Amino acid sequence: MPVIGVFDSGFGGLTVLRELRRVLPAANYLYFGDTAHLPYGAKSVHTVAKYAVSAAHFLEQHGIEMLVVACNTATALALEDIRAAVRVPVVGVIEPGAQRAAAISKTKKAVVVATEATVASHAYRRALEHLGMEATEKACPLFVPLVEEGWVEHPVTEEVAHIYMDELFQDGARDADVLVLGCTHYPLLRPLLRRVVPQSVEIVDSAESTAARVVEMLGKNSAGPAGELCCYATDSVEKFRRLGGKFLGCPIENIELVDIEK
Ligand code: DGL
Repeated sequence: MPVIGVFDSGFGGLTVLRELRRVLPAANYLYFGDTAHLPYGAKSVHTVAKYAVSAAHFLEQHGIEMLVVACNTATALALEDIRAAVRVPVVGVIEPGAQRAAAISKTKKAVVVATEATVASHAYRRALEHLGMEATEKACPLFVPLVEEGWVEHPVTEEVAHIYMDELFQDGARDADVLVLGCTHYPLLRPLLRRVVPQSVEIVDSAESTAARVVEMLGKNSAGPAGELCCYATDSVEKFRRLGGKFLGCPIENIELVDIEK
């Protein structure tokens, strides 16, 4: 069974891992959450690339055969640097998300919600334009802390979502028929966002599309017993255990504290 490395700025990438384990349960996974440097979403290209390349080297040294960059911000800002730094195939979350959006959109207009850094990079817009789509990008910086607070079904989060979404879908993005969740944390808000955005708008989760891409690359070989999961965090193991379980949807046993700056 392959050993798949999954990298994120913290816990959010566990939403991508959750999808990967659903479609490829027998693979072994090494998950790296750079919690000491979280959040990436407000950092510069240089800083994100430096952290992401260190994490990719760490995972490569631990024997991964493929690397999934689960973090949208790291994919947007540093995918090429990561690819240049390791020998294993590298899959980011942006292209699969954009391809899924293009496949289901009839109006060829999409809205992408993401961190400030991802939006500023216009990586989603470029990927979507390449596929003949028009994209409106919107940074939703309050979503990450709200999700980490566990407020995924909270009136405050619903109010914030209305403020972000209502204006968007009433103005420039009136004809958009797809909403791309361009951040690891947003899949947890999917049920809430479903109530907030117009019913004619389909929600695309990059985590699902990325897992489907990995299956395409490896072939769906889910025979055999469930694979193993080992998590590495660059800050508190306890916090990773507490928050990570919410993102993965089950308790996490095996977590090791690592210092990649040494
Ligand atoms: N993982 C980040 C992303 O998907 C969100 C959290 C952060 O800002 O580090 O963009």
